[in-house]
Amino acid sequence: MMRIFSRNIVKVGMGNPCGLVKSCRLSLVSGRYLNYWKGLPHLPVPPLRETCERYLSALEPIVKEDELKQTTRLMEEFLKEGGDGEKLQKSLERKACTTDNWLTDHGLQTQYLDRREPLVVFSNFGFALPQMDFRDKLGQIRCAAKLITAVLDFKTMIDNETLPVEYMRGEPLCMMQYCQALSSCCIPGLKTDSLVFHGKSSNAPKHITVAHNSQFFTVEVYNSDGTPITVDQLCVQLERICNSPLETNMELVGILTTLRRDSWAKWYDRLVQDPSNRESVSAIERSICMLCLDGAMPQVYGKSGRCAALQMLHGGGSQWNSANRWFDKSLQFIIGEGGTCGLNILHAVIDGTASLALADHITASMKKPQMMPSPVELLPMPQKLHFNITPDIKNVIEEAKQSMDKIAEDLDLRVLVFSHFGKIFIKAYKLSPDAFVQMAIQLAYYRIYQQCCASYEAASMRLFRKGRLGVIMSTSSASAAFVKSFDDPKKQSTEKLELLEKAIKVHRWNTNMEIRGQIIYGHILALKNQAIEDDIPMPGIFTDPSLDKAFNFRLSTSQMSSKTGCLCFAGPDQPEVYDFCYSFTDDDITFVGSAWKSCKENNVIQLIQTLEDALLDMRMLLENETSSA
Ligand code: COA
Repeated sequence: MMRIFSRNIVKVGMGNPCGLVKSCRLSLVSGRYLNYWKGLPHLPVPPLRETCERYLSALEPIVKEDELKQTTRLMEEFLKEGGDGEKLQKSLERKACTTDNWLTDHGLQTQYLDRREPLVVFSNFGFALPQMDFRDKLGQIRCAAKLITAVLDFKTMIDNETLPVEYMRGEPLCMMQYCQALSSCCIPGLKTDSLVFHGKSSNAPKHITVAHNSQFFTVEVYNSDGTPITVDQLCVQLERICNSPLETNMELVGILTTLRRDSWAKWYDRLVQDPSNRESVSAIERSICMLCLDGAMPQVYGKSGRCAALQMLHGGGSQWNSANRWFDKSLQFIIGEGGTCGLNILHAVIDGTASLALADHITASMKKPQMMPSPVELLPMPQKLHFNITPDIKNVIEEAKQSMDKIAEDLDLRVLVFSHFGKIFIKAYKLSPDAFVQMAIQLAYYRIYQQCCASYEAASMRLFRKGRLGVIMSTSSASAAFVKSFDDPKKQSTEKLELLEKAIKVHRWNTNMEIRGQIIYGHILALKNQAIEDDIPMPGIFTDPSLDKAFNFRLSTSQMSSKTGCLCFAGPDQPEVYDFCYSFTDDDITFVGSAWKSCKENNVIQLIQTLEDALLDMRMLLENETSSA
């Protein structure tokens, strides 16, 4: 679900991404995290020739033979001694020496802040926590109070730097993302957005924003002695909010945050011209997080994981919960009235692995029996936030309602709980579960379209200082050979198995290269960007149509496996993209696939059914071949 935006990836003059990152950097100049963080390696700039060779090999299954020949010619020119490649590589290496992470700085700006599409569905992603067991309003309130208490507990660990360092394959991960996760917000700008982080200022916020009936309230969540309020105390506050009268002629201000960013930027400036509005918007932006106490969801969504996913991603549309949000906030915790519970996450601030750790922490905490004594301190009433809505903003709210409803209507999202086997089965055949699933997705795609497409899997780059996400190019010559052979009656099963094993090995190798910093996608695009910064004529390799084909991904995939049964999902970030998130347990695999209905070539129901068949057929191949061996 990482956001890949090949169309607007290049930007002149990247500049400093945002104050947020700066603030966080400052925040680490004390305490034990600094020593830890300093010990993490800088992301290296990979050797130029290797990247170029791997890029050419990634093109093989995607482009035609004559196109590949042309690209190879352009590449030779690029790599000539003293040529453009060498110059740009040197510039990039110089830049890498002066930044904490040359890829992250570039990616934050181009992949998130410069994007003009709405944040809702196109950029923000979500998690659904396991279904909660409550049936009435009091149950919903109690669940919300427990959830916020767990968030505050997590915040304390971030603030005192006691959040345990995470590890991947036995190596420590960068923890920087946590510093920015709470008390931050995205501010719309006409050309580019910016991020603000309030958590480290001398008057760091002590309140959350609660959304209920599309109205917003601030609630103080710390007692005067600085201790976080208890579940019981928070319940009292949330009951007060739920019992407050519904404003007559209330306007759905929150829906404005679902607009395209340039449009929202224009109306944001207009909105905050009014002092009362300015104060309300500032209170939301400064708050630690959003808590959205939702109403009903459309019945057509059913009661399954699909409904929960849609609720977390967009809220169901303007008549349901889409205005009960502030999509610019980094973290929105959402509790539905029927027991659904989860998060909507601003991707610019935090990625899947870090937010999954938060979701897992909350889920585990909410299961623990409550130990806190009854409330002692009388708390101030929650403050309702007021907005003065002028006729022109009222019109924009109407437009935003319509555009939001279009998005909700257009998004097709399906959940497949594949319970025939999980990680254990695949490992028993000495295969990588992740690579196995990647090959199944590619086989399913090939079975429908009879061709391979550019596809990628998100990889965590947190082994490096300030590392965010990398791109594993999942389509390889080996994967193409496997999918093309699988349904070929002329091929023997032994050969098919060999091709599967080889494709899996190649994917696993590519994964290792990516997470170790030997990246292709990020390197090539950074070199292209460097050509603009250095103001040299654009080398042919970057205007070559093959580049678009290679990076115009049709399948965007990501594995996010939770320890506590949370489910991760995202929407497609481009009209023709399929997004697939999947999670493993020992014995099953859950997929959340999505696509836009308006893309006539895409059909997520068909792809997900074909994927189920592909997994079963691949299992049969493994079982038959090993029993006959
Ligand atoms: N034989 C037996 N076992 C194997 C094996 C083999 N040949 N290859 C791998 N395994 C095992 C691994 O040791 C691991 O064991 P564990 O369950 O005890 O940990 C398990 O299978 C899973 O490994 P694998 O399926 O290969 O995947 P991975 O855990 O290495 O994950 C990524 C690969 C790319 C998903 C991971 O590196 C990553 O980056 N995850 C984050 C993605 C992300 O951030 N997404 C969100 C974007 S917002």
